[in-house]
Amino acid sequence: MRIGILGTGNLATALGAAWVRAGHDVVVGGRSHEKAAAAAAAMGAGTVTGDPGRGGTATGGTARAGATPAEAVAGQDAVLLAVTWTGVPDILRAAGAAGGALSGTVLIDPVNAVDHGVGEHLVADGRAAAEHIAELAPGAHVVKAFHLFPADQWSPGRAPVTVPIAGDDEAALHTAAGLVRDAGAEPAAVGPLRRARQLEEAAGLVIALVFAGHDPGAAVPHVPARATARA
Ligand SMILES: NC(=O)c1ccc[n+]([C@@H]2O[C@H](COP(=O)([O-])OP(=O)(O)OC[C@H]3O[C@@H](n4cnc5c(N)ncnc54)[C@H](OP(=O)(O)O)[C@@H]3O)[C@@H](O)[C@H]2O)c1
Repeated sequence: MRIGILGTGNLATALGAAWVRAGHDVVVGGRSHEKAAAAAAAMGAGTVTGDPGRGGTATGGTARAGATPAEAVAGQDAVLLAVTWTGVPDILRAAGAAGGALSGTVLIDPVNAVDHGVGEHLVADGRAAAEHIAELAPGAHVVKAFHLFPADQWSPGRAPVTVPIAGDDEAALHTAAGLVRDAGAEPAAVGPLRRARQLEEAAGLVIALVFAGHDPGAAVPHVPARATARA
């Protein structure tokens, strides 16, 4: 799959590397081309053993920097929006989102719009940050995902986790679920995009507990899953 990543920081690099290992082709775009190039280099590239044309094997995908954020998102099957909440309007503007550059594209939103260290949600109107992002990217199929776990979760060898996702478009949810699996986790679709507020508040609670010195894992009851069919 062709994946664009907007953002050049910790989460962009960690998820990009995971997707390259899974065989995807990633293009990174940021406000700094130098940082985009460094992030792409840090994501690595596929391993080639021998000559693939003569019985050798090529595994894994590729990573490169786009010349601009707009180039990084052009023609991609999915785009990850891995910038800070305050940077979202700028990077979407640079990517050409207002003019429809992301129309029809799966836009994966891992953004935590919460007060760092406190965990309070910064969107005062009660809607999800993901819903605001959808307004800034007309026509994009926004899926909330990957916002709850720290970036190092996507390093090789970590114990698998469940990644809740939310979105309005079934095909986009299917694509995002596949990318969750490719990162080594199990997707759990919880409903439409308006449910993203709930997912975002959950991240705020985790952040609040961590900064208050508590183990967030110990604050969630260990309740067995119901024996119902899962998507
Ligand atoms: N890291 C995690 O463990 C983690 C986990 C879950 C979710 N998230 C979410 O993922 C997103 C990225 O987090 P991160 O940890 O990767 O952050 P980070 O390492 O600090 O990187 C932040 C990125 O946002 C960009 N940015 C900030 N303001 C911008 C602006 N005005 N215009 C364009 N780009 C701008 C930065 O560009 P410059 O470098 O040029 O400033 C950088 O590429 C955040 O929304 C965060 O809440 C992070």
